[in-house]
Amino acid sequence: MGRVLARTESSVPESNEFELTDKDFKFIQWFMHKNVGIFFSDRKRTMVYGRISRQLRRLGLKRFSQYRQLMEGDQQEQVNFINCLTTNKTQFFREYHHFEFIEKVLMSEWKGQNLKQLRIWSAGCSTGEEPYSLVSSLYWAKAFELFESIQITATDLDTKVLAHAKQGIYSEEALNSIPSKYLKPCFVKGTGKQAGNVKCKSGLQRFIDFRQLNLLEKWNFDKQFDLISCRNVMIYFDRNTQEKLIKRFYQQLKPGGVLFIGHSESVPASLDLFHHLGHTIYVKK
Ligand SMILES: C[S@@+](CC[C@H](N)C(=O)[O-])C[C@H]1O[C@@H](n2cnc3c(N)ncnc32)[C@H](O)[C@@H]1O
Repeated sequence: MGRVLARTESSVPESNEFELTDKDFKFIQWFMHKNVGIFFSDRKRTMVYGRISRQLRRLGLKRFSQYRQLMEGDQQEQVNFINCLTTNKTQFFREYHHFEFIEKVLMSEWKGQNLKQLRIWSAGCSTGEEPYSLVSSLYWAKAFELFESIQITATDLDTKVLAHAKQGIYSEEALNSIPSKYLKPCFVKGTGKQAGNVKCKSGLQRFIDFRQLNLLEKWNFDKQFDLISCRNVMIYFDRNTQEKLIKRFYQQLKPGGVLFIGHSESVPASLDLFHHLGHTIYVKK
C-alpha cells in the first residue's frame, strides 16, 4: 500500500514508511512559518520527513494527514510537532569572540557607566550552553564583584530543550568545548549516579532565569537589557521576520546596549539602528 501511495502522490521521495504529500509539506511550511517564523524551503523536505517520522512512529500512524488531524485538536501534540522541527545545535562557548568581548571590552564599558544592575538576554538558548557560558564568562571577569545584581534571562520556544537547560546536566564530552580557565571556578563533575556528567556550579546557575518564549509573540519584559545574545536563531527565519525581530531587539535594549548574533547572520545597515563593531557585534545607536 505504501508503495502505491508513494507512486500516485506526486512526490514522496524520502521513503515509503509513511505518506507525506506535497499538500502536507505545504501545510508544514505554512504552519511553522506562521507560528514560529521558521521557514523550510523545498530543499529541507527530506530533513522534515525524517524528523516527523519519529512522531508518526510513536503514534503508529501511516500518513501525515492523520497526524495533522490529531494535532488540530491537541495542543500538546502541536508543541511536540514544533519541538521536533526546531534545530537545537549548540555548544559551550560557541563563537568564543563574544565571550572575549564581554571580558575585554564590555566589562570596562560597564565599569565606566557605573552600572549597578546587569541584565542579559540569551534569546534562543536551546539546551542552555549559551547562558551557562555567559554566566561563567561574567564570573571569570569578576562581574559579580562589580554589580549589585546580575540577571540572565534565557528563553527558547522548544519546551524539551528548555527542560534540559533548566536541569543543566551535560555529558563530560561538553568539557571539550569549555576553555580550561572556566572549568575549576565554574563547573563541577558529577559523582555517584551523576558520574560522567558535568554541571555549572549552582551558585552561578541561580543567576539564570529560564523561560519559554516564542520570539514571534509578545514579550513581557519589565526592563530593557544591557546585552542581548540571539545567535544562530534568525538564520531559520525569512528576511521580513528577521528585520521585524531586529527592530524589536533594538527597542528591548538600553541605549548603547549590545546585540550579539550568529556567524552567518547580519543586521542590515539600511535599518540604521546599530553601529557594527565587526564580528557579529552590534551596539544600539
Ligand atoms: C541552533 S539553536 C541556537 C542555540 C544558541 N543560541 C547557539 O548559538 O548555540 C536555535 C534555537 O532557536 C530556537 N528557536 C527557533 N525559533 C524560535 C522562536 N520563534 N522563538 C524562540 N526560539 C526559537 C530553537 O528552538 C533552537 O533551540
